[in-house]
Amino acid sequence: MQQESLQYDFGPDFVWGVATSAFQIEGAQHVDGKADSIWDSFCRLENTILDGSDGSQACQHYQRLEEDLDLLQALKIPAYRFSIAWPRVQPLGRGAWNEAGLAFYDRLLDGLAQRGIAAHLTLYHWDLPQALQDEGGWGVRSTAYHFAEYAKTLAQRYGARVASIATHNEPWVVAVLGHETGIFAPGLRDRKLAVQVSHHLLLSHGLALQAMRQLGLDTPLGIVLNQSPIYPATNSSADLAKAKLEDGSLVRWYMQPLMQGSYPADVLAHLGGDAPQVHDGDMQIIAQRLDFLGINYYTRNFASSENPWQPTPGPLGVTAMGWEVCPDGLYELLLRLQRDYVLPPLYITENGAAYDDELVDGQVHDVARTEYFRLHLAAVAKAIAAGVDVRAYFAWSLLDNFEWAMGYTKRFGLVHVDFANQQRTVKDSGKWYSAFVQAQLARTRLQAVA
Ligand code: GCO
Repeated sequence: MQQESLQYDFGPDFVWGVATSAFQIEGAQHVDGKADSIWDSFCRLENTILDGSDGSQACQHYQRLEEDLDLLQALKIPAYRFSIAWPRVQPLGRGAWNEAGLAFYDRLLDGLAQRGIAAHLTLYHWDLPQALQDEGGWGVRSTAYHFAEYAKTLAQRYGARVASIATHNEPWVVAVLGHETGIFAPGLRDRKLAVQVSHHLLLSHGLALQAMRQLGLDTPLGIVLNQSPIYPATNSSADLAKAKLEDGSLVRWYMQPLMQGSYPADVLAHLGGDAPQVHDGDMQIIAQRLDFLGINYYTRNFASSENPWQPTPGPLGVTAMGWEVCPDGLYELLLRLQRDYVLPPLYITENGAAYDDELVDGQVHDVARTEYFRLHLAAVAKAIAAGVDVRAYFAWSLLDNFEWAMGYTKRFGLVHVDFANQQRTVKDSGKWYSAFVQAQLARTRLQAVA
């Protein structure tokens, strides 16, 4: 281990962490004044969640905060990425604040600080207050302004105690899976709406950055995007065109407005009458300077004009999500972003894998997950060696948790959770990651004295 870790040089100030999100772990659905989010409502609909479950208990992290903080400390993880549940701190999404909910995040931040763990805050990981959805949600422009208020209040209260703030997590997922395919909350199926939602999400990001910057904090501010390289399934011109368009919708639709202040012309042309309504000045608001860009990477994608197209499994196999294990995809994505854009520093804000873990005699021998991390960390190191400015890596996830439409059927944790009794058990991959990080930190300490 020691040896292996030492092959790689991530640089002296590299941030090593694990990630979670509020709805996936907290539970405490209506405790201390928390109101419903769109995910609470979505789970109550028929046939939305594979196992019929919901987030009302999840990992009971709200009640087990101290235990989970101790777990982070026992694993010697230096940084923790988490999100705030908007309807816990501002139940209606505008107007009154809920002090009891805000106090929970004070306890979280105090607990992290006491243990010397850096806090990386995400403001929005998909749990919009249901009250705002009732007013039109991300489909209406006013939600972007409510989000900016929310961001400003949280930055005022917590900003000095966190090491970074990301506005959104994966706006593509919110727009497309939430409003076009409808497999995620709020479960709508309307492409024109989804495109408008993507614009309002980007606008809300820009407004939030402006509002937070007015506070004069020096906390790095950014956004988190899910990205994958998209390859044509064959060399046919139809597949090449499809791959270019899908890259346009997933990667360029977000990168180009954020980095260059415009939407990609080819995607706009393809959208035709579904193109978003953009007000004068919106694009400048969206293209605020970013202090960092978060990248969530799980797998690569293929595009085919033939529908449905069956991918041939790659040499490294697939995870329990059916996603190909493809560390080269991460390397290629990072190099491509570096080639096509003038980038801020990058954080890998999520990377990880679901497998069908078995808890036997208090152990989980999740060899495949360890291998997944090992290969992807090597890919990040290779990208850094090739000149890409990656400053952080957060493994997804600290705990097995509520995997959205898959309910509790997919486990991504470094720590196993028995949902019958909430018992936590560190998996072999968790022990491995902990040791990897320790070896890295020891290496930089050695370099510092040499
Ligand atoms: C994401 C999600 C996570 C998922 C993970 C695995 O940001 O995509 O943040 O919540 O659990 O991606 O699907």
